[in-house]
Amino acid sequence: MPNVTFIYGNQTKTVEAENGQKLLQIGLDNGVPIEHACGGNGFCTTCMCNVKEGMGNLSARNDREENMGIVHDPERLSCQAEVQGDCTVELLDI
Ligand code: FES
Repeated sequence: MPNVTFIYGNQTKTVEAENGQKLLQIGLDNGVPIEHACGGNGFCTTCMCNVKEGMGNLSARNDREENMGIVHDPERLSCQAEVQGDCTVELLDI
């Protein structure tokens, strides 16, 4: 099972995830306060994070991320990126 490390505020939390789960859901399931104004539908950018390690262990960017202008590393929308291996992400907006 992939390990996902969230960095937010002055905290770091590492949790286990299922393959294919979205970063947003993994975080919310584990008490990580990720903003998600559009409900995880890829229509805002409040869930944006910076991937510090393991970009290659996330699904490729999809159309919704590209439509929102999230096209450059290390940025991803946590509601769209699916986990396929270990990664470390830093939340913004906290
Ligand atoms: S929650 Fe709105 S884009 Fe992810």
